[in-house]
Amino acid sequence: MTNSAQHKPLNIERNAFPENFKWGCSTSSYQIEGATNVDGRGMSIWDEFCAQPGKILDGSSGQVACDHYHRWPEDLDLARTLGVNAYRFSVAWPRIFPNGAGAVEPRGLDFYDRLVDGILERGLEPWLTLYHWDLPQALQLEGGWKSRSTVDAFVAYSDVMSLRLGDRVKHWITHNEPWCSCIMGYAEGVHAPGETNLKSALQACHHVLLSHGLATKVIRENVVDAKVGIALSLHPIIAASQSEADLAAAVRHDGLRNRWFLDPLYGRGYPQDMLEIVGNLAPIMEADDLLHIAAPTDFLGVNYYFPETVEDAQENLPFRTNVVENTGVERTDFGWQVAPQGLTELLLRIHRDYALPSMYLTENGSTYDDVVTEENEVVDVKRQSYLERHLFAALDAIKAGVPLQGYFVWSLLDNFEWAQGYKRRFGLTYVDYPTQRRILKSSGKWFASFLDAERIK
Ligand code: FCB
Repeated sequence: MTNSAQHKPLNIERNAFPENFKWGCSTSSYQIEGATNVDGRGMSIWDEFCAQPGKILDGSSGQVACDHYHRWPEDLDLARTLGVNAYRFSVAWPRIFPNGAGAVEPRGLDFYDRLVDGILERGLEPWLTLYHWDLPQALQLEGGWKSRSTVDAFVAYSDVMSLRLGDRVKHWITHNEPWCSCIMGYAEGVHAPGETNLKSALQACHHVLLSHGLATKVIRENVVDAKVGIALSLHPIIAASQSEADLAAAVRHDGLRNRWFLDPLYGRGYPQDMLEIVGNLAPIMEADDLLHIAAPTDFLGVNYYFPETVEDAQENLPFRTNVVENTGVERTDFGWQVAPQGLTELLLRIHRDYALPSMYLTENGSTYDDVVTEENEVVDVKRQSYLERHLFAALDAIKAGVPLQGYFVWSLLDNFEWAQGYKRRFGLTYVDYPTQRRILKSSGKWFASFLDAERIK
C-alpha cells in the first residue's frame, strides 16, 4: 500500500472502549522544545552527543527542534483540536537543575508551571514524565547513570517537581524506556551518552530502576492523590524456528528486553536465568535496593512499536542471540515491523505474567516519509491504518480482560527522532522545520473524528 493508495475503513468506534478511557498524545522535552540555551537551561547529554560528528543521521540536534518552548500554546491548541483528554510530556531536567544538583533554576520551573496551566485550561489531563533521556551533562561528568549519586540527584529533582506541580499534576511517570536509555546509551553506544560497555549498562539500568522506586515514594509523600508509574518499551519476542536452540534464544532475548525490567519492578528481583548469563557483569546492589525498586505503583505504561524475531547465535556473547530481519512483512519507513496482533499478544502476556491492576499504552505510532501536497495537506493513510489496526488490537486485549485504561499516540508533532534526526516523522501533525509551520495530517484529522472532536476545521 502506498501512502496515497486506497484505504479500507475499519470502522473502529470510540464508544467500543471503556467509558473512562484516557485518550492522549505523547511528546518529550528534548525532541520538541528547542531553546536549549534559554532561561538558564544547562547542557544535557543529548546536546553533547549530537555535537559529536557521525552520531546523528542528518547531523542535526534538538537545538531548535519544534521550538515548542516558544510555541507551546499553539501546540496545546493542536492537542485540543484532536479531542484528546490527556497530554503526556516530559520535563527537561537540565532546565530545573542546570548543574545536575544544587541550585534550582526558577525560570525552568516557571516554564513547566505555565505549560501545566495551559494543558489544564484546554481541558486536558497532564501526564508528566520526569525522565525522557535528557540527563544533565554535569551528572554525566560524574558517571551518569553508572553512578549511584545520579539516583540521589533524580530523587531530589522528583521532589522539586512534585512539590511545585503536584497540586495540578496527578499522573507521574518516573522514567521512559530504561532499556533505551541504558542499553542503547551505555552498551550499544547509539544513544547518549554513547558508551559501549554492557557491565556499565546493567549498572545504569539498576540505578534507573532504583531511582524510579525511590522517586515513587517521594512523589506519593508530596502528592497524596498521585498516580505513579513507569513507561517501558516492551516487545513480543518470537523464536525464528521451533528448534530448541532458537526457542531458548527467544527466552534469553525476552530476558533482557522485558523481564530484566518487569521482574524487579514487580517484586521478583532480576531473573535468575539472566543473572547466570551475565555473571560478573551483574549490577552491584545494596541491601534494600530490590525492595525499593518494587515500590508499589499505580499503573504500568507500555510503549509498543514492534515485535522481534530471534535466533540462536553463538557469537553474540553473553546473550548469544541474533535479531532476524523477517522478509515479506509490512514495515514502516523506519523499517520497524507493523504487527498490531503483537500488541494484543504483548498485553495479554503482561497481564498473564504480572497481573497488574492498570496499564496504559503510553506510546504507539509510526513513521512514514510524509509529503506536503500543493494544497498544503499531508495525506498519510498508512499512519491512519496503523492507528486503526492498533486500536483494534488494544480493544481485543481489553475484551480478553486486560485492564488497559488509556492510549497515547506517539506523537503530537513530528520531532527530533534521536539518532535518526529529523528524517523520521512520527507526528499526527507535520512540522515544516524551516518555517515551523504545523499542518495537521489526515491521520490527525481522522483521529479527531474518531474521538468525535467538534473543533476540527
Ligand atoms: C520511543 C521513544 C520516543 C520516540 C519513539 C519513536 O522509543 O520513547 O521518544 O523516539 O520511540
